[in-house]
Amino acid sequence: MNVIVITGASDGIGAEMARQWAGRGKDVALVLAARSVDKLEAVATECKSRGAQVLVQRCDVGVQADCIALVDAALKAFGRIDTFVNNAGMSAHATFEDVTDLTWYETLMRINHWGSVWCTHAALPHLKKTQGRLVAVASLAGLVGVPGRTAYSATKFAMTGFFEALRVELQNSGVSVTIAYPGVVATEIRYRGFNAAGQAAGKSGLDESGAMSVEECARLIVQGTEARQRDIVMSTKGKLGRWLKLIAPGMVDKMALKALNKH
Ligand SMILES: NC(=O)c1ccc[n+]([C@@H]2O[C@H](COP(=O)([O-])OP(=O)(O)OC[C@H]3O[C@@H](n4cnc5c(N)ncnc54)[C@H](OP(=O)(O)O)[C@@H]3O)[C@@H](O)[C@H]2O)c1
Repeated sequence: MNVIVITGASDGIGAEMARQWAGRGKDVALVLAARSVDKLEAVATECKSRGAQVLVQRCDVGVQADCIALVDAALKAFGRIDTFVNNAGMSAHATFEDVTDLTWYETLMRINHWGSVWCTHAALPHLKKTQGRLVAVASLAGLVGVPGRTAYSATKFAMTGFFEALRVELQNSGVSVTIAYPGVVATEIRYRGFNAAGQAAGKSGLDESGAMSVEECARLIVQGTEARQRDIVMSTKGKLGRWLKLIAPGMVDKMALKALNKH
């Protein structure tokens, strides 16, 4: 049995990864976690129809006890964990000077970074037993600082640092660490993300033209995970930006500014 736990599986990239993994044979067992149980149940129905066994678990990754309970539930249902995907996340868009109350900066760090740390801490002993796969869905904003995204970029840089360091610690354990760096993917994440006042933005602050499809993004992560790929840097611009940052950082700043929605 191949037991795959996915956080943030009720929508977007996480739900699509679940659907794609569900189509990969009868021995796949999925543990789908997020806060919205009704949406998880709908994803679970689709996954079951593709042949996978599915457990739905309500989990707010911003609460450590929920992360521990998620791992416990997966073990109770299926007895093992082969892959753990830290995908749950929120977005945010605001110029730092426009923010008066920084409370939501902490909330964002709690969900995107601490949620991944808490889940990974609980899952790791079990991944070691299966020589399994650990996955972190970071962002290109976790490789390059993006204007208007001081909060979000900080959470994703934190994830990048954490998982890069952990990868080296785990190099003789048989557990692989794959970090995915999506660019702009066509989901609702930016509409739900925080604005300067810490409320749901209701609009995207990025230029959405040319966004990658959810299917393509999920496919790259699923395949990269299976292949135990180290990093999955998405889009040509993302790959280029990574190297350009070393030799012409001013150009990367200009590229990052251009990605902002002027309207
Ligand atoms: N879309 C992009 O352009 C893009 C680009 C780079 C990186 N990413 C990263 O990719 C990941 C998935 O993003 P997406 O675009 O698929 O977003 P999405 O469509 O908004 O889905 C986010 C998922 O995370 C869950 N989630 C949010 N807060 C949570 C919490 N506190 N506890 C548990 N689950 C929570 C949501 O479910 P509930 O609300 O039901 O909890 C939902 O299932 C995120 O980490 C994001 O930062 C996305």
